[in-house]
Amino acid sequence: MTAPVRLRTLDPHAYRPDFPILSKRVHGDVPLAYLDNAASTQRPRQVIQAIVEAYEEHYANVHRGIHTLAEESTALFEGAREKVRSLIHAPTVEQVIFTHGATAAINLVARSWGDSNLHEGDGVLVTEMEHHANLVPWHQLAERTGAKIQFIPVTDDGLLDLDKLDALLTERPRLVAVTAVSNVLGTINPLAEIIPRAHAAGALVLVDGAQSVPHQVTDAAAMDADFLVFSGHKMMGPSGVGVLYGKRELLESMPPFLGGGSMIRRVWIDSFTPADLPYKFEAGTPPIVPAIGLGAAIDYLNDVGLEAVHEHERRLTQRAHELLSEIDGVRILGPRPDQKAGIVSFWMGRIHAHDIAQRLDRRGIAVRPGHHCAMPLHKRFDVSATARASFYLYNTFEEVERLGEAVAECKHFFQRRR
Ligand code: ALA
Repeated sequence: MTAPVRLRTLDPHAYRPDFPILSKRVHGDVPLAYLDNAASTQRPRQVIQAIVEAYEEHYANVHRGIHTLAEESTALFEGAREKVRSLIHAPTVEQVIFTHGATAAINLVARSWGDSNLHEGDGVLVTEMEHHANLVPWHQLAERTGAKIQFIPVTDDGLLDLDKLDALLTERPRLVAVTAVSNVLGTINPLAEIIPRAHAAGALVLVDGAQSVPHQVTDAAAMDADFLVFSGHKMMGPSGVGVLYGKRELLESMPPFLGGGSMIRRVWIDSFTPADLPYKFEAGTPPIVPAIGLGAAIDYLNDVGLEAVHEHERRLTQRAHELLSEIDGVRILGPRPDQKAGIVSFWMGRIHAHDIAQRLDRRGIAVRPGHHCAMPLHKRFDVSATARASFYLYNTFEEVERLGEAVAECKHFFQRRR
């Protein structure tokens, strides 16, 4: 008999001293509970230090000079690319393209692959739970090419309605663009089911990993996604850097999107030939230090262990669901905690999400109110805005208890005023 697998318990208190900002006090002397990690995470000293060191000791432009600083900077930048490759289990480092974020990466695919492959009447299949970053570039592509957008609906439980997938795939879309984890519902989508079904129907698949890569183990090759995108700032790295991973033959077949320095092999007065991967897609000076910072964030994540991060967030989410469900009038959007990542969006009838977030902020609790760049999804649930708590490895059960108490207090406060 095999022993049950026991997941290592992560102690957030062991990591919190690495994050100076988490000991900040707000509104006088109220301790901060930072629960806005789906919007952007905080950085540990190790990442901040890597950024400072890069600027103080090793900074120059990359891939150009042959002086010492240029070589040091290039080695650090390319070292970061290898760290990303290893994190997502990409087969080769040339398949890791640095962009300015997940949004920029999706736009790159829409412009480069989309403009050269899609024609009038071709389909792009998205889902009703996509972030605007994985919708608007496809709308724009449809405007340019005459392609049409269809979507996989979301069930009342906040899951993708995969019963509809076969019918949608008979339309033979050229691309399925799907998020790995919803930034509102927290739903973990069954990519292992969706991707083979899409491929069998002849579609490529782009996975938005912005809310998954920072929180769970990702194996791009095993997943068999054609494209995978994510951002550095949602995984303790700096803002201004993101990643596009793609299958090699696809990336090689795609024309460069932006033109300029770095992305060329030869330039003549009237023409050019592009560079090889990954530089073909990295026109201009890349986000050098942000990429180095992202590399340091990956080192930190690897030390903590992504399985442990995922399990910790699952437990926090479970507890948040228990506490919020006990409060009369609070409705949580999305599936059961065991079907989701560390994101809990909720609403409270006539108490607006902005009022909830403001009230919580007075108690030091940072959550995000609004539509979270997912207006079609909010329309689906007939709510204009939700309040969203989202967790990371440094969040504690005490903070989740404070969230529960503050939401209960918020309800009583606004009830008294009516
Ligand atoms: N994409 C980020 C969010 O969901 C900004 O909050």
